[in-house]
Amino acid sequence: MNARPIFIRNANQVITVSGGTDAPLSKERMRELHIIPHGSVWMEDGRIQAVGTDEELAEAYSSRLQEAKQIDASGKIVMPGLVDPHTHLVHAGTREDEFNMRLKGSTYMEIMNSGGGIHASTSKTRSASPDHLFHKAMKHLDSFLLHGVTTVEAKSGYGLDWENERKQLQVALRLQESHPVDVVSTFMGAHAIPLQYKENPDAFVDYIIQEMLPKVKEENLAEFNDVFCEEGVFTPEQTKRILEAGKKYGLIPKIHADEIEPYKGAELAAETGAISADHLLKASDEGIAKMAEKNIVGVLLPGTAFFLMAEFARARRMIDSGVPVALATDFNPGSSPTTSLPFIMNLACLKMGMSPEEAIAACTINAAHALNRASEIGSLEKGKKADAVILDVPNYVMLQYHYGMNHTHTVIKAGRIVVD
Ligand code: NIG
Ligand code: FE
Repeated sequence: MNARPIFIRNANQVITVSGGTDAPLSKERMRELHIIPHGSVWMEDGRIQAVGTDEELAEAYSSRLQEAKQIDASGKIVMPGLVDPHTHLVHAGTREDEFNMRLKGSTYMEIMNSGGGIHASTSKTRSASPDHLFHKAMKHLDSFLLHGVTTVEAKSGYGLDWENERKQLQVALRLQESHPVDVVSTFMGAHAIPLQYKENPDAFVDYIIQEMLPKVKEENLAEFNDVFCEEGVFTPEQTKRILEAGKKYGLIPKIHADEIEPYKGAELAAETGAISADHLLKASDEGIAKMAEKNIVGVLLPGTAFFLMAEFARARRMIDSGVPVALATDFNPGSSPTTSLPFIMNLACLKMGMSPEEAIAACTINAAHALNRASEIGSLEKGKKADAVILDVPNYVMLQYHYGMNHTHTVIKAGRIVVD
């Protein structure tokens, strides 16, 4: 940890995204970014100590200015470190062969049902060593960090048996200890029905419930439990069984919901009290209304819709109906091989009708809520972890206007400068 305090000074805009710690931001509150012009941030002991105008903070800390590492942010903006609440970070290999097949007209599900897709990544991940998985994921985390991302969620789900699910989860814990980016673990043994269970998927559901979930808890390997609830993968009934069983072990439910076909995944998220429902491309009006009623975060993954050449989720309807929306990369080798959360924000604006303000709230405080970490991260407020990014743009709209670019200038993680 830097012994010296960090004093970021005189940014054109400090975007605090404050006021959303107790509950995720919804409706018009997603557009209140709480911006401080000529803003400054004082960080010390890994925490944010003060946020205000440069004048206010220079006065408050006048006797300690020499002691601090001062960063001149004039002409730039400062915002909370970005939070990516949905990735499949730990995996082996790539699937550019399938990319070519999809360009020629094969669909994602056709490829998966013929033994490719998640199955292809599972077989590569099973035969990879923990060290290989670790070093590959470290590189991806470097790339996330260079894009201003300071926390990522990481799902298992390319093992599909205990030995290999455990291997992925242990690698995620090692990453958390080794890389500046915080890694939050989700167990996703229910990512696909392994080929040998094709004729008897319920037996695999039983195996997850009886064999894997208790061990996830016993070895304290994850906080969340996610299921790919999709036609031809896990049914809503199977999903419910797995999520309810996980709850008994303290695992918080998440759902890959209504991604390819409408399947009442959003409704199920409300019914099981999931912390988030993710994808939601085909979520029904009723499902959206139920999520809004329960304040369940809708984690939208427009990079996946883009890459699978599918219709985008109805972000406008969700936000206008009161669903607190977050954004994520879904980083994985099949449906979204990008670590650029800023590009995901661009897609959210240009393809889902979200405003630049909503896109920022969705990648900060609402994303932190989807990971049950809003008291720690997601906004620049006194007492929170000192995770911040300085971007080389004069105002936040430029992040969306100058699309497809990486404007990250400096990243501060837990009060340390990690990208400079
Ligand atoms: O969120 N849809 C299921 N899982 C991932 C894709 C995983 C893969 O194709 O390897 C997703 O899109
Ligand atoms: Fe996913």
